[in-house]
Amino acid sequence: MKSNGGGSFDNLALEFVRVTEVAAIAAAKWIGKGEAKLADKAAVDAMRTQFNTIDFLGEIVIGEGAKDESHELYIGEKLGTGKEPVVDIAVDPLECTDSVANGFPNALTVIATGPKGSLYHAADSYMDKIAVGPEAVDVIDLDAPVADNIRKVAKALGKEVSEIIIATLDRPRHEKLIAEARAAGARVRLFTDGDVAMALGTCLSRSSVDMLMGIGGSSEAVLAAAAMRCLGGELLCRWKPKDEKHIKRLNDAGVTDFSTVFRARDLAKGDDISFTATGVVSGPLADGVLFAADHIVTHSVVMSTHPRNIRFIKTKHMQ
Ligand code: FBP
Repeated sequence: MKSNGGGSFDNLALEFVRVTEVAAIAAAKWIGKGEAKLADKAAVDAMRTQFNTIDFLGEIVIGEGAKDESHELYIGEKLGTGKEPVVDIAVDPLECTDSVANGFPNALTVIATGPKGSLYHAADSYMDKIAVGPEAVDVIDLDAPVADNIRKVAKALGKEVSEIIIATLDRPRHEKLIAEARAAGARVRLFTDGDVAMALGTCLSRSSVDMLMGIGGSSEAVLAAAAMRCLGGELLCRWKPKDEKHIKRLNDAGVTDFSTVFRARDLAKGDDISFTATGVVSGPLADGVLFAADHIVTHSVVMSTHPRNIRFIKTKHMQ
């Protein structure tokens, strides 16, 4: 088993599932209460406390913001008991805060890790994305017309174009994309939030989604890229800043060329990537938290690139 400085990333990912589980349980107590910020805070607090019980030295590279914007899980924050291995961590303590507040699907607690320097981060903005499962990794092209991508993916999957389901965030910015996909003959599945879960759904038999297309968060792109590395799918993306403020933020972080197309392996580099997530509200990746009289059930996914494996973990937490 490959290791970095004496510890295994695969074993570490299994430790991290306890972190995503406690964060999911804490957030799930807020489902449907209309309190997105409190749901997020509950997840952040639980995640941070649990992280600091683990024997490792982690540094947040994608988290809750810069140090002056956030007290917890800020970029640069060190986590763990301070022992090796040393890893970079990208977290989304609660992906889809609004979904939790409103009881909509797709909410997850997420951690991705890799060796130092492996996880790409410049600044928070948007990226244009296409994600597909393993059979279609070689046929997608961010510069090709929507209809061409759909036709090629359908061929790679051995499906008719009319059977292809494209997941797209339900946003006004996607009107043209939606119209083009429908005109090509495909089906469009709009969703309110959660393009990490939808991207990964393209690789999972429990999901009917064949492609994710459209513009979503850049941090979410890196998290999804880490998982795609483990799942064997592909995520292509390119910066798509929404306004002058985003452009300045990216320029300040050294990004001036918005034409670069990133693949999953550019956003999550190297051989020791891990991805851990627990469902808060059910979606394509995992079922949500279930509360019973004397126990709580969580559903998690733990994956790594080396050894390359994917574990689905259902845990009964006795109360
Ligand atoms: P949060 O975790 O910040 O709630 O993000 C949810 C999400 O839907 C992401 O999955 C997606 O990448 C992003 O928001 C899209 O951003 P916007 O809501 O601004 O269109």
